[in-house]
Parts: sequence; C-alpha cells; structure tokens
Amino acid sequence: MAFGWIDEQAELRRRAGLVRTLRPRPADSPLLDLASNDYLGLARHEEVVAGAVRSARRWGGGATGSRLVTGTTELHTALERELAGFCGFEAALVFSSGYAANLAAVTALAPHGSLIVSDAGNHASLIDGCRLARGTTQVVAHSDPDAVRKALRTHDGPAVAVSDTVFSVDGDAAPLAEYAEACRGRGAGLVVDDAHGLGVLGDGGRGAPYAAGIAGADDVVATVTLSKSLGSQGGAVLGPARVIEHLVNTARTFIFDTGLAPASAGAALAALGLLRREPERAARAGAVARELHARLTAAGLEAVRPDAAVVSVRAPSPEGAVQWAAECRAAGLAVGCFRPPSVPDGISRLRLTARADLTEAEIERAVRVIGETRP
Ligand SMILES: Cc1ncc(COP(=O)(O)O)c(C=O)c1O
Repeated sequence: MAFGWIDEQAELRRRAGLVRTLRPRPADSPLLDLASNDYLGLARHEEVVAGAVRSARRWGGGATGSRLVTGTTELHTALERELAGFCGFEAALVFSSGYAANLAAVTALAPHGSLIVSDAGNHASLIDGCRLARGTTQVVAHSDPDAVRKALRTHDGPAVAVSDTVFSVDGDAAPLAEYAEACRGRGAGLVVDDAHGLGVLGDGGRGAPYAAGIAGADDVVATVTLSKSLGSQGGAVLGPARVIEHLVNTARTFIFDTGLAPASAGAALAALGLLRREPERAARAGAVARELHARLTAAGLEAVRPDAAVVSVRAPSPEGAVQWAAECRAAGLAVGCFRPPSVPDGISRLRLTARADLTEAEIERAVRVIGETRP
C-alpha cells in the first residue's frame, strides 16, 4: 500500500510517547500564557493590530507576488530601513518568515567549496540551511569558541560560522564576541540567528549582536524573526549592503517566495515604533525571566539560568514532560513542552517564556502551578 511505512512510523512514535497533536487556541483563551514567543506582549497591542489593519486596507491581504516582481511595497522598504537602523546594521532584507531568512543567509553565504561551522545547539532552520547549502558542514561543540577556531583552521577557502544568539531550547546565550573574533582571525564570516535576542537583549531590545558590540561589522550577518518580540510574522537578514545585494540576487527563499504580507510588515513596523518609544519593555522581559528562574529553583526545580526571556525546566522523561504540561494546562497555565526529536540531547523540558507584561501575581501563580504539578 502507498505510504504504508507511515503507519509503522506512527506506531513507533506512539510507543515512544512522541506523538504531536494540534490544539487550536481560542481567541479569548483563559489560560495564563507562558508558552508563546510573544515576549513583549505586543501581538495584541492595539498599535500593532492597528498597524496590520491599516496596511492590509491600503495594500491588500497579500503581497501579490515575489519581492522581485510585485511583492515589494514602500512598507517593505520602510521596514528594512527601520530594522537595520534599530539593530545597528547597514542594510536589511525582509523575508516571509525567519525560517526562510535563515535558509537564505546560510545557503547564499556558503557556496561550493566553502566550510560551514555550525554550533551543535542551533535551531532547525539553521541546520536546514546547512543541509541545503553547497558548502561542507562541521558541527562543533555547543558555545565553544575554541571548537570554532579549531574547525576554521582545517579549511583554506571561504568559511562561515553559524549560531543562534540565544538558544531556543535552554535560553542560554552564545559567546558572540568570541565567535566574531575567532572568525575574524581566519577571514571567515559569522551568521547569527537573533530570533530570541531581538526585543530582549541589547539597549532597548536592539538585539544580541548590538549587545555584543558586533552589529554593523562587515563580517557579521544577523537573521531575525518578526514573529516573537515584534508580535508579527516574517523574518529578515541584516548585514552589510553588499551581502544584502548578494541575497537579492541569489537567495532562493527570497527570489522564489511571495513577499511578506502587508499586514505583517505594518504590524512589525508598529512594534518597532513601540520598542523605540518604550525601551523598558526589553529589560522587563529579562527581569521576569530571572525572577521566574529564581523562584523555580527556590522551589527545588531544576531550571537553566536564563540569558534572555526563555526559561527551561528539566522534566524526567518525554512522557513526564507531556503529562506535566497537560496538568499545568488543566490548572490554567500554558507552557511549552520540548522533547525528542526536537531536542537532540534527549532531555525533555518544560519551556517557559517570560513576557514583559506578566504581573507579579501571574509570576507567583505560574511558579505555584508548576511546582504543584511536577511529576
Ligand atoms: C531560533 C529560531 N530561529 C528561527 C525561527 C523561525 O522563525 P519563523 O517562525 O519566523 O519562521 C525560530 C522559531 O520560530 C527560532 O526559534
């Protein structure tokens, strides 16, 4: 039978406790949300929603074509200017998702004969970029500048190191300044994915490259998503103008993809405006994460010290993690649940996101529920 092997795989998944299911989120969910990536609480902010509505009214429901044909509006170019300026880079290029931005950056900057040095903790979209690129990938130990240095010494041609700035599973930050130095020493480029740094790290949320003093360098490229702190949807690559021009001409996920929807561009622009006016939002997200971590560890739970807004709590097993998250949900708290194969180290976790708009009472409630439901 066609696709018969699918049923065997499904059975193996079921036995291993790894079945994933979709659960539609109601618009007016009563749950306390520590599961989304809406770090600054902007997804439903009235200015962000108004930015989306205004843009859809003026430009329509979709971009109507790829960026190089009809899919570039003045909204897209304004967003690119604003993102580059805010994060401290020379230029930016907006994509329909952060995933597409990562595929573009890695594939376009790692041609045939090049070396890609990839941190072992990288997000799936960077890993897929490495898989699609023509260069050869060497995966190196997590957050280890010496390992990057050593790998770069094995190769003489073009090379690039790629890393998340804040790792999405444990919320720890990469040693960006050391990575940049290791790359510079070998004339290699550095591509960093700031999905979880933008809006949280750096002065007023300008991102991890800005915080590390490497934003705007001619050998550093950053990717961002518009779907986390900015409460919108889409992605971007930030870097030197010559790199951006190279992407416009060569990146397949730019050339062969419909441009970002006007509503998403308008929402992201409004969110950036809010971040400029209210820079304290970024610091608050970090402070909430540290408070969550302190209270969870005081309650005897094993949690990783957060460098940004992600707090990771160890669970005993994949089944234990699923059951823990379900019991939190039954008690009114939405938390993320990470387990294999999303986590290659095999360790299952609850993943909490520290929103800047959580109140003290909500933080207290979250910690109480997590403590009371632990397996
Ligand atoms: C580190 C990281 N990079 C990239 C992405 C992909 O971004 P997008 O959702 O905009 O495709 C995500 C998650 O969504 C992420 O966590």
